[in-house]
Amino acid sequence: MAEDGSELWLRYEKLPENVASNYQNQIETLAILGQSQTLNIASDELQQAFLGLTGCSLKTDSKFGERSIILSLASNKSVSQFFTKDELRSVGDEGYLLRTIPVGKGSAILIAANTDAGILYGTFELIRLLQTGQPVYALEKIESPKYDLRLLNHWDNLDGTVERGYAGHSIWWNYPKNDEVVLQRYVDYARANASVGINGTVLNNVNASPQVLTDEYIRKFAKVADVLRPYHLKVYMSVNFSSPVVLDGLATADPLNEEVIKWWKQKADDIYGLIPDFGGFLVKANSEGQPGPQDFGRTHADGANMLAAALKPHGGVVMWRAFVYSPSDTDRAKQAYNEFMPFDGQFADNVIIQVKNGPVDFQPREPFSPLFGAMQQTPAMIEFQLTQEYLGFSNHLAYLAPMQKECFESDTWGKGKESTVAKTTDGSLFASEKSAIAAVANIGRDTNWCGHQFAQANWYAYGRLAWNHELALDELAREWVRMTFTLKPEFEQSVVDIMMRSREAVVNYMTPLGLHHLMGWSHHHGPEPWCEVPGAREDWLPSYFHKASEDGIGFDRSETGSKATEQYFSPLKELYNNKQTCPDELLLWFHHLPWDYRMKSGKTLWEELCYHYYAGVEETRLFQQKWDALDGIIDTERFAHVQQKLKIQTTEAIWWRDACLLYFQTFSKMPIPLELERPI
Ligand code: GCU
Repeated sequence: MAEDGSELWLRYEKLPENVASNYQNQIETLAILGQSQTLNIASDELQQAFLGLTGCSLKTDSKFGERSIILSLASNKSVSQFFTKDELRSVGDEGYLLRTIPVGKGSAILIAANTDAGILYGTFELIRLLQTGQPVYALEKIESPKYDLRLLNHWDNLDGTVERGYAGHSIWWNYPKNDEVVLQRYVDYARANASVGINGTVLNNVNASPQVLTDEYIRKFAKVADVLRPYHLKVYMSVNFSSPVVLDGLATADPLNEEVIKWWKQKADDIYGLIPDFGGFLVKANSEGQPGPQDFGRTHADGANMLAAALKPHGGVVMWRAFVYSPSDTDRAKQAYNEFMPFDGQFADNVIIQVKNGPVDFQPREPFSPLFGAMQQTPAMIEFQLTQEYLGFSNHLAYLAPMQKECFESDTWGKGKESTVAKTTDGSLFASEKSAIAAVANIGRDTNWCGHQFAQANWYAYGRLAWNHELALDELAREWVRMTFTLKPEFEQSVVDIMMRSREAVVNYMTPLGLHHLMGWSHHHGPEPWCEVPGAREDWLPSYFHKASEDGIGFDRSETGSKATEQYFSPLKELYNNKQTCPDELLLWFHHLPWDYRMKSGKTLWEELCYHYYAGVEETRLFQQKWDALDGIIDTERFAHVQQKLKIQTTEAIWWRDACLLYFQTFSKMPIPLELERPI
C-alpha cells in the first residue's frame, strides 16, 4: 500500500492479528444475490477490503450460508423474511439494512436495500466497521440519509486551475493525456465519495465559463458521468447566465425572452441526450460581477424558474446561489436576506436556494445565515467550504466538522424553539421536493488529493455529516484516524484531541470574538487588517469589517448600527442585539465596543483579545508537541509531512497574532498583558 496518502481512508492495511482472526472466524463467504455493475463494485470493494484487512480472501457464492455476508436487493425472496415492510419503507431509495440474521446453526450478515445504491452504501458501512475494528457479530443498523442531494462543488476552471484550490490543478480539466491514470483517479474519487455517501458533484467553477455548454464540454461531462454513475454519483454543471449570448450570439440573455427560453430548453435536451441522469445546474448570478437576470430588470426567481423549466421534464434541479452582494450596501451581511426574502415562495419546485453557512463568506466563525429558518416557502440548502480559503489554505490543520456542526445545531427559531438549521434544510421542518447540501471541494491533483493529509478528514467528515448531521464529531474523527492511519490507541487519542481543538485554535489566532475578514487582500492568506488597496472596492477592505479606531473595534450590526440583528427571529434578535447577552464568540460581529469594555470574564476587551490570540498560538505549539511524540507509530512520509505543516501553522499563527495585535494596539494604545509572550 502506498504511504503517500493517495488512498485516502480506503487503505485496507492489515489489522492487528487478534482483530483480523476474529473476523476470519466470523466471515467466510460473500453471497451476491443479483447482478449489476454497482453490485459488482460493492462486492469487489468488500473482497479487496477483507483481503487487505485480514490477509484472507472471501469466497464468493450465489447462495448464502452460515458465516456469509449477503448483498441483496430487498425484493429477493430468499431474504424477505428478515425484515418488515415498514423497515424497508423507512430506508427509502438510498438507505440500507445491515443486520445479523440466523442461518443454520449460526448466523450471517445481511446487507439489504431497495436499490443497488443502498447496497453499495451498506457495504461501505460494513467495511468501515471492519476497518475500525468494531465487533460485527450482532449488527443491527437501519440507515437512510438526512439529505436527498449531497454534493461537492468543485471550483475548477476549464484551463485546469482551481479557484481557491490548494492541492494542485483540477482533477477534471486540462489533465495531461494519460487516460489510464485519469480513469483510475476518477474511480478512486467515486469510491471515496460513495464510501461516505456523497451522491452528486459539480465539475466546474461557480464563476462559470460559458464554454461548458459547448458540445465539446458536454461530451466531456458525459465521459466523467459514465465513470461515476455506477457509484451512484451524478454530475452537475455550473452555468453562466450569459451563455446564449456568448455562445450563440443571441441578442439578450433575458430570462423572459422566447429565444432565450428556447435556447436553454434545447441545451437541457442536448445534455440529457448524453447524460440521462444529469443532476442539474448550479448558478451564481448577479454576484461579484457574474451576469444574471437583474441585468435585464428581472428577478432571481425569473432567472431560476426559466432554467428550472428547461430541466424539469428531465428531473433536473437548479441550485441557485444566494451568495450575492453589491458594493453599495452598507452591510454585506444583510444582502442575501434582503435580496431573497421578497421572493420566498415564488421559485419553481425544482429550484433550491444554495446559501453559504454564514452571512458573509466562509469565515472561521460566523453566525448562521438568517435565511435559514426565514425562507419557509422555498427549499434552502447549506453550502459549506472545505477548501480552506480563510483557514490557512492547505497549510493549517483545521478539522472543520465542528464548524459545520455549530451551524447545523444553531436554533433559528424560524418555527419556534428547536428549529435548527439542520431541520430547516433537511426537509423535516419545511416540506420540499428534495433536500440538499453542498460543500466546496478541497480536492486537486496532489498525490494526497487535498494538499494537507488532514484536509482529507474534512472531505470525509462532510460526507458523513451530509448523510447524518447528528453523528458525533469525535466519533467521526476517530473513524477517520483509524481508517487513515492506525488503530493504535495512543495515536488515536492524541490525534483526535488535536483535531477537535483545531478549528477553535484557528479562530483564536485569526479572528477571535467575532472578528472577521482580516485576511490579506484578494488571496486571503495571512493577516492584513490594515489593508488599504488603492482602487479596491470598499467592502473588500478588511477595515470595512473590523472598524477598529481609537474608540473601539467591531461591526455594529445591532439596532444602533446596520440592524442586521433584525434579520433573526426572536429571541435571537434580542440576544444578539444586546451586548450583555450576545455570546462572546460573536461579540464583535454584532457590536462595536470600546477597548476598555468589561467582558464577562472581568478582563477588558483589549485584554480578552490578547488572550485569545495568544491562546491560539499556544494551541498550535501543543499540536506540534503532541504530534512529535507520535514519531515512529506511522509511516515516515506522512509523519514528516504533517510535522512540516504543523511547523508552518505555528509560524503563521504567530504571524497572525503579532500582526493583528500590533496593528490594533495602534488604536487601543493599551499594553499587552505582562504575563503574555512579547511579539517579536
Ligand atoms: C468568495 C471567494 C471567491 C468565490 C466566491 C463565491 O468570495 O473568494 O473566489 O468566487 O466566494 O463563493 O462565489
